[in-house]
Amino acid sequence: MSLDIGSGAPPAPLYERVGGHDFFERLVDEFYDRVEADAELLSHYPDVDDLQGARDRLRMFLEQFWGGPTTYAEQRGHPRLRMRHAPYRIDVTARNQWLAAMAGAIDVLEVAEPERGELIAYFASAADHLVNAR
Ligand code: HEM
Repeated sequence: MSLDIGSGAPPAPLYERVGGHDFFERLVDEFYDRVEADAELLSHYPDVDDLQGARDRLRMFLEQFWGGPTTYAEQRGHPRLRMRHAPYRIDVTARNQWLAAMAGAIDVLEVAEPERGELIAYFASAADHLVNAR
């Protein structure tokens, strides 16, 4: 039996494997297009007439989380996502609607495995963690 020790180089961060900034910009655009089309999901958002700030914050956070630039930390500090979501009532229905919008965005961008699975698993568990109402 042989052990696969690979090439010895650590894998590139997912940020690079999926295409960097352009990918996250498209992902967040596709996601927010779905939020805007879902009145119930949209009702959670504080500024429904201008979601550009929300788009930028989510994109910067995801880029940082997946090993890209740390602009989110520079502009917003520590993510503290649970605390930042406390003002919004997130029950299991809202979680499911949010995840469905994100899964739709991931599908449209035709992300290959294993990156698709990594993204879906992360979003599912992060969204569970943000449920704050029943
Ligand atoms: C995988 C799960 C999620 C991630 C990674 C995520 C990430 C984020 C980030 C990074 C922000 C901006 C925080 C900041 O102020 O710097 C944000 C804002 C927000 N999120 Fe989430 N979120 C998730 C799930 C949800 C869910 C399930 C809801 C339910 C509706 C939700 C609703 C909101 C709302 C209303 C805002 C305020 C929009 C704004 O920034 O102006 N999020 N989220």
